[in-house]
Formats: sequence, structure tokens, C-alpha cells
Amino acid sequence: MQTSEGRALEAEPPPGEHPGQPTGLHRGSNGSRQRPVEPLACRLRSIGFDDWPYPAFVAHRGAGLLAPENTLAAMRLGYDCGYRMFEFDVKLSCDGVLVLMHDDLVDRTTNGSGFVADASWAELAKLDAGAWHSPRFAGEPVPTLARVAAWLRANGCLANIEIKPSPGREAETGAAIAIEALALWHDADVPPLLSSFSEAALEAAQRVAPGLPRALLLSRLPDDWLQRCRALGCVALDANYRALDAETIERAHREGLRVLAYTINEPACAALLRKQGLDGVITDAVGSLGPTD
Ligand code: G3P
Ligand code: MG
Repeated sequence: MQTSEGRALEAEPPPGEHPGQPTGLHRGSNGSRQRPVEPLACRLRSIGFDDWPYPAFVAHRGAGLLAPENTLAAMRLGYDCGYRMFEFDVKLSCDGVLVLMHDDLVDRTTNGSGFVADASWAELAKLDAGAWHSPRFAGEPVPTLARVAAWLRANGCLANIEIKPSPGREAETGAAIAIEALALWHDADVPPLLSSFSEAALEAAQRVAPGLPRALLLSRLPDDWLQRCRALGCVALDANYRALDAETIERAHREGLRVLAYTINEPACAALLRKQGLDGVITDAVGSLGPTD
């Protein structure tokens, strides 16, 4: 992992010394990672259709376009625009640390290059994840899930964690996120909503932490979308807004599923789908759409 300027930024402490960074992963005596076989107990509130605590507007990748995506700076900006729930993408470093990153490569959103899956946390922690966006965000670090959870909880905000596995690490990432989310939110009033396009990742999350709410992300709706949601024990369908209409939303509701849509940036589109019953608008347009109080 290299920075384009070839310079080293000050690194956050390694995961074991990271404040509030319980990995939730069990280490064997030889240091290897071991997954628990039994599902973990969850004392968190159970989320269902009639007990739906999530707000109608969710800031996409923190605050979408106004700040560097998937950073705490983005969430602070979204917070200032009145947003209290944040969607963000999480994947694993090569040494098992959960970090916020959308792409498989760090190239687009940091000053480094290479695959997240090949990078250690020590390498990722040195990257600048803000300068690519604009000078005022220069030096913004790649955050860990643990750091973001601490900020969200300290500020009374809710999370939609999108499980965004690197190729081939779907089940591993789904399980790791679910385990860590349980630890980080163990005494929270409202659990994070886990979502993913990867059914293998959601299945793994369901296996280790069945009590955490899940949503299946779909860019298009296959004929069996409902069966897929059911098989994964999902509480919601999370679809591209172009794939949704009043009939689909109504059908989902009849079947006990809430419906979220990404990424809606036009007020008229948000208003129409909300009128048709959409439960959650995931948006980049935090400065012009949704909460402002
Ligand atoms: O979680 C909704 C949305 O973020 C899915 O698409 O590519 O922006 O992660 P993407
Ligand atoms: Mg996402």
C-alpha cells in the first residue's frame, strides 16, 4: 500500500490498541481467527414491521457528495444538515480490521493504491481519505467501524451498515461485521441495520447474529425477490429506486417487509415514493433533501 506522495501519515493505533475496538473475533492460541459456531445471543431490541425505529431519510456514504464518502467528516456534515442515520460501506483489511470503504481498491477515495483486501490496517491507517475530495478535508483518515460506531452512538445517530465484501470474502465479511456490530452496539437502544447485495454475506451475518436486522440490497428486482428476502430473514427490501413502484412497496408491506431505496437525490422522486409508502430514502442530497432541523 502506497501513498501517491510517498509520504507516511501518522497512523492510528493498531486494532488491539484502538480505543473502543473490540473486534468481536475470537483468536486461537496460535493467533488464527476462529469463528464462533453457535449464533451469538442478542439482547438488542428486535426490529419488525410494527417496531420500525429508523428515520425516513438516511445519509448515503455519510453525507454523499458534500464531503469525502465513508468518513467521519461526512457524517459530521450530515449531522449538521439534520441527518441522524447514516449508510456506509464496510469491508475487511487483510488482517481482519473492519474499515469504511466503498471500492475494492483504495485508489479513487484515498491517496493510495491497491486492494483493501491486500492492505493491513497499519497501511490503511496512513492513507488520506479526504484530500481527493477537496483541500478542506485533507488528512481525513479511513475510519474503522469501531470508531464510527463510537461517534454515532455518542451523537444519538443510527447506522445502516452496508456489508461490502471484497470478492471471495463474502461470508467472512458478513460474519465479522455482524459479530463486531453486536459488540459495538450491545447496549444500544436501536441496533444497526445490516444490508448487502451479497446474499452469502447476509446469510453469514444471519448465522452468527440472527438478532440483528437485515435488508437485502437489489439493483433490479428478480421475480423471486420476496423469497430471497424471506430466506435471509430480512426485515426490509433495500432497492434501487428505479426498481420500485407503488405496487411493489405495497406487496412488500403486505408481506411484512419495510422498503428502503437508494440513491434518491431528486426531491420530486423522494416525495412520490414516500407517498407510495417508501419507508426509507437513502440520499446524497443531504443539503437539499430531507432533515434540516
Ligand atoms: O446501501 C445503499 C447503496 O449504498 C448501495 O449502493 O454502491 O452506493 O454502495 P452503493
Ligand atoms: Mg453503500
